Amino acid sequence: MNQQYPSLSAQNIVAFLQTLFDNCNDAYLGEAVTVSQHMLQGATLAQRGGMPDEVIVGALLHDIGHMVSPLGTFAIDDTWDRHHENSGARLLAGYFPQVVVDCVRHHVAAKRFLCATQPDYFDRLSQASVHSLQLQGGPMTADEVAEFERLPNLETILQVRYLDEAGKCPAMNTPGFSHFAPQVQRLVDAHLQAGY
Ligand SMILES: [Fe+2]
Repeated sequence: MNQQYPSLSAQNIVAFLQTLFDNCNDAYLGEAVTVSQHMLQGATLAQRGGMPDEVIVGALLHDIGHMVSPLGTFAIDDTWDRHHENSGARLLAGYFPQVVVDCVRHHVAAKRFLCATQPDYFDRLSQASVHSLQLQGGPMTADEVAEFERLPNLETILQVRYLDEAGKCPAMNTPGFSHFAPQVQRLVDAHLQAGY
């Protein structure tokens, strides 16, 4: 049972997520898009690229923690980290395949990993993302990189991270959450039926 939302179930979590998307108009981390638009853009790019459901849904939900964090949404002048990735993973754990939960839980660490392992990755970050990187601990140390590389879902986590960077375009139109809802429900059902 989810401690924060005890009435959540595999039957109603997709409707709950839809409600979160419908009601969140918060700006995304100082960007010119809302949190909802940001995640819908990532999911749309993944779908256009023919990526698997896990990547599409991982991108769609990676920042859901901003919508449910008891610590509130990130602001550009924050001086501390609100750990939205943990809030998001807590919401989805138990309803979604581990790979999706891992994409949510580790998408912040993935930025720190890529900044440490790819010399040009830092240049891809927006100003707000550079600011949050500092609050999140900066690029990983060599020991942290070695540990992160052992994650079983590393490749999918990194794919979602690239989509996170890409989904910050004010001019990009996307379908709404309902377009993706059947895919989201399929993954919930797969987890329920097969423990996937
Ligand atoms: Fe994001």
